Amino acid sequence: MKWKEQITGMKAYQPGKSIDAVKKEFGLDEIVKLASNENPFGSSPKVREFLANESFNFALYPDGYATNLRAAVATKLGVEENELIFGNGSDELISIITRALLYPGVNTVMAKPTFSQYGLNAKIEGAEIREVPLVDGNHDLDAMLEAIDDNTAVVWVCSPNNPTGVVVEDAPLQAFLKKVPSDVLVVLDEAYFEYVTNARHKDTIPYIQDYPNVIILRTFSKAYGLAAFRVGYGIANKELIAKLDPVRGPFNNTVLSQAIAQVALEDDAYIEKCRDENNKGKKQIEEFCEKNNLHFFTTDTNFILMEVKVDSDVVFQELMKRGFIIRSGNALGTPGYIRVTIGTQAQNEGFLTQLEVVLQEQGVFS
Ligand SMILES: Cc1ncc(COP(=O)(O)O)c(C=O)c1O
Repeated sequence: MKWKEQITGMKAYQPGKSIDAVKKEFGLDEIVKLASNENPFGSSPKVREFLANESFNFALYPDGYATNLRAAVATKLGVEENELIFGNGSDELISIITRALLYPGVNTVMAKPTFSQYGLNAKIEGAEIREVPLVDGNHDLDAMLEAIDDNTAVVWVCSPNNPTGVVVEDAPLQAFLKKVPSDVLVVLDEAYFEYVTNARHKDTIPYIQDYPNVIILRTFSKAYGLAAFRVGYGIANKELIAKLDPVRGPFNNTVLSQAIAQVALEDDAYIEKCRDENNKGKKQIEEFCEKNNLHFFTTDTNFILMEVKVDSDVVFQELMKRGFIIRSGNALGTPGYIRVTIGTQAQNEGFLTQLEVVLQEQGVFS
């Protein structure tokens, strides 16, 4: 068959072991998954209440325009309804953007390491990938500007960045946006936006007016606790949205996910509570790192990238045996580090207790 050359030899996404598989393998009753940056508190209680009281006609296709959710998000953000595009998670928006703009002969610029899906999708489309190393966990925006040339179609700015958790502050971001050529799309991936507390980060929504080549991506998968429902959205000027929209599948958000995302969107108090809890959890883990002289990156997300001073695959395996699933930095381009989702206070305590044992066993702590 006439496969695209670039997919030859590509491996399918390897999801981590399921909770059930880990329970079985290690004979454990309880597993704490701190690997995919989901909200450890789940979604707003209003979502469950809504689900218990509503019924849906599952025989009908969903509203392909996500009319009600669109109106709710537009009102909340103070944008026009035609300045939004909805995706089956922001993952789908990343693939819509790459399908629309990348092909052999053009290039795309991104940080290294950053969220893996930018590179993966670019590879499938056959575009050249230009990776610009982070500096202290930060995007090197000057070097990214230098990497842009006449054939650059898309630049990815992951803010806060996955896996470092470091947010791009407003002043350097604005200086960068001013210099990016207007025919290059800048994708500002803000999957963790609701967790950001850095005072030097500003709301980026006004930039869609100032920079017609910017699209902001946000999601219901993280702070809203709705990863299972797969709803992400893009915010950009209406011409840009109109160009991307034909690339989107016609019914890409289900009836249930549209309805539930709208309910979750209205519960601001819940998001605030989760942000506060996340800050407490962040402090717990940071204090452990400081006490034990382990480097960590200052995070504006619900995960933290921390040093372990030993092979991170070993720490990953040893923690899994003890019921904690985290991500090894070896898989994320940050060897010697692990990426851990910030859990509930109890989950964090459990994780830190086990980590201390593992690092003692590995000779990191004497
Ligand atoms: C930076 C970043 N962008 C996008 C996504 C995708 O999120 P979703 O497709 O669930 O909206 C993730 C998920 O981990 C992420 O970390």
